[in-house]
Amino acid sequence: MPTVLALETSCDESAAAVVRGTTVLADAVASQVAEHARWGGVVPEIASRRHVEALPGLIEQVMAVSGVAMDELDGIAATVAPGLAGALLVASVTGRTLARLHGKPFVGIHHLEGHLCSAQLDATPPAPPYLVLLVSGGHTELVRVDGPGGYTRLGRSHDDAAGEAFDKVARLLGLGYPGGPALAAAAVGGDPQRFDLPKGRVSKPGGGFYPYDFSFSGLKTAMLRQVKALEREAAPLPVADLAASFEHVVAEVLVERSCRCAREQNLGTLVLVGGVAANLRLRALLEQACQQHGLQWRLAPLAYCTDNAAMIGVAACQWLSRQASSVCQLGVAARWPLEEAAALQRDPAPF
Ligand code: KG4
Ligand code: ZN
Repeated sequence: MPTVLALETSCDESAAAVVRGTTVLADAVASQVAEHARWGGVVPEIASRRHVEALPGLIEQVMAVSGVAMDELDGIAATVAPGLAGALLVASVTGRTLARLHGKPFVGIHHLEGHLCSAQLDATPPAPPYLVLLVSGGHTELVRVDGPGGYTRLGRSHDDAAGEAFDKVARLLGLGYPGGPALAAAAVGGDPQRFDLPKGRVSKPGGGFYPYDFSFSGLKTAMLRQVKALEREAAPLPVADLAASFEHVVAEVLVERSCRCAREQNLGTLVLVGGVAANLRLRALLEQACQQHGLQWRLAPLAYCTDNAAMIGVAACQWLSRQASSVCQLGVAARWPLEEAAALQRDPAPF
């Protein structure tokens, strides 16, 4: 089992972890949420600066807690794509510098491959092939996993990601940032059936619908109309019912299409990962639907749904176990397809 130091700074969480295979020896996350909340979203320049300030201390902390010495590491990993370029650079340059200094392999990791690997941190990890519903602030995808680097996208959102929809509707309802947890908290005790909201579908050019794709823009507009209509009544806004109805329809649409995809593609296991996988209603609905349809299910542990470095470490260990690592010239990329994650371990580097 390889042991790695893993770094993650792709968005607004600075994170470091020491991971051995699928065992987390130490893990630390410094969230910048409070600072970005003032602006209602992530400010890239602030994110980069805070990563620069936080990362050295986090590395020191996880190395001390794990009890692993630098020369005992088999590699140093960092998220290199996709994400905010300036933010990605912080972990990338730190990781490559440490790798050079200590004569260790550097392993550049695709952020979404990290999220996929968070499922390996469950007590009983899924065995490939399986279907993953990956729902984060930037992505909503259905991915078939056949093993490390074997990723095939079977479904996606054509507009907002699920997390983005949560964030925007939370803002509409006057809730805090990030919107997902704030909206989920506001929905507790609300009536999820009170408002009839649309399950956006994506039309095919020749007729019919893409069966495994998602669209959240119509739902957002419906929420806006509903709020406007209620405001005209001049009564206090039924925030709990609005939040619960929104959360319920998003969870339902995600679960329905994922289960359909798993069944039709003969994949017996459905796995839930990404920031929105922390949503308890979504977790419950997915479990219930899988039971009904005779599917196995795995949920990323709650602590590893939102951005962290442990999942990056698990992905890096998978590559190192296969004698694969990146060249030290590997840069960062704001966008890069998950299907091309394996290219990060090739020479010459793709970017
Ligand atoms: O995976 P993540 O930490 O970062 C990205 O890679 O994007 O996901 C962040 C997203 C945000 O949009 C946040 O609102 C959402 O995950 N989120 C949630 C919950 N916790 C985080 N959405 C719904 N319910 C939650 N409990
Ligand atoms: Zn993420």
